[in-house]
Amino acid sequence: MQTALRTSLPETELASRASFAPAARVVREERQERQVQTSGLPLSIRGLRKSYGDNEVLRGIDLHIPAGQFVAIVGKSGCGKSTLLRLIAGLEKIDAGSISFGDAAVKPEDIRVMFQEPRLLPWAPVLSNVEVGLGRDRSSSDADARAEKALAEVGLTDKRDQWPSVLSGGQKQRVALARALVSNPRVLAFDEPLGALDALTRISMQRLLERVWRDQGFTAILVTHDVAEAVALADRVLVIDEGRIAHDVTVNLARPRERGSAELAGLEGSILSHLLSADDRT
Ligand SMILES: Nc1ncnc2c1ncn2[C@@H]1O[C@H](COP(=O)(O)OP(=O)(O)O)[C@@H](O)[C@H]1O
Ligand SMILES: [Mg+2]
Repeated sequence: MQTALRTSLPETELASRASFAPAARVVREERQERQVQTSGLPLSIRGLRKSYGDNEVLRGIDLHIPAGQFVAIVGKSGCGKSTLLRLIAGLEKIDAGSISFGDAAVKPEDIRVMFQEPRLLPWAPVLSNVEVGLGRDRSSSDADARAEKALAEVGLTDKRDQWPSVLSGGQKQRVALARALVSNPRVLAFDEPLGALDALTRISMQRLLERVWRDQGFTAILVTHDVAEAVALADRVLVIDEGRIAHDVTVNLARPRERGSAELAGLEGSILSHLLSADDRT
């Protein structure tokens, strides 16, 4: 399926089918033990190109993400990370190449994007903000129940009737996460979702992201400028440079991962050195 872009919601998605990388296989087995079904879609990108005028941003991205994998994307500012997410989400048109999500019929609500700014409606209480994520199912009789379940997943049940303005930055992002989760997405893309949060809130949000990913089984694509965050959360870290995937690093470490461990620090150091060498050329 080409990304024939369809989008009324500020979000969308993708998938294909394929073999599982070892790290993803481990995760899958754990899920089966817990009897939670994987709902993620695989994603295949071939020869993807995108330019803005003379600025050739993506110059041939080739990538396969197995269903349910957690992938982080890093790269220097302006390298095209957000552009890639927008193309995956169907929010912009591709110039060349293809993006596919396997053979499954993909609905717009299967693919969601969470941004750095929570983008909540200030005039609507928390529960209604979460229901926005239901799209056309918003008026269905179980909308409240679904939104309450999503709020419970992010630990904000007691805020359901509050106005967004009284929430902290971290709480607003949790509402944004509940809004993304409420439609049970099969691909969830995050564009630097924790970039505006303080260090402690950030760590607790990282744990929350990992937990909901493990519980729900969606395919996760996290753009972050924080390499420590990338190696703590992802099965695999992609480094984008000069419009292509310059490095594809597998993070084959058990979860939950211990922040500050020597193994994480070693991986972080090697990815940082890739980023710095890219930066030196500019
Ligand atoms: N809508 C747009 N119109 C023109 N140029 C754009 C647009 N969106 C992004 N760009 C340019 O594309 C490049 C990549 O941007 P972006 O994907 O936002 O990078 P990143 O998220 O990695 O920082 C930048 O040079 C940016 O200025
Ligand atoms: Mg960006």
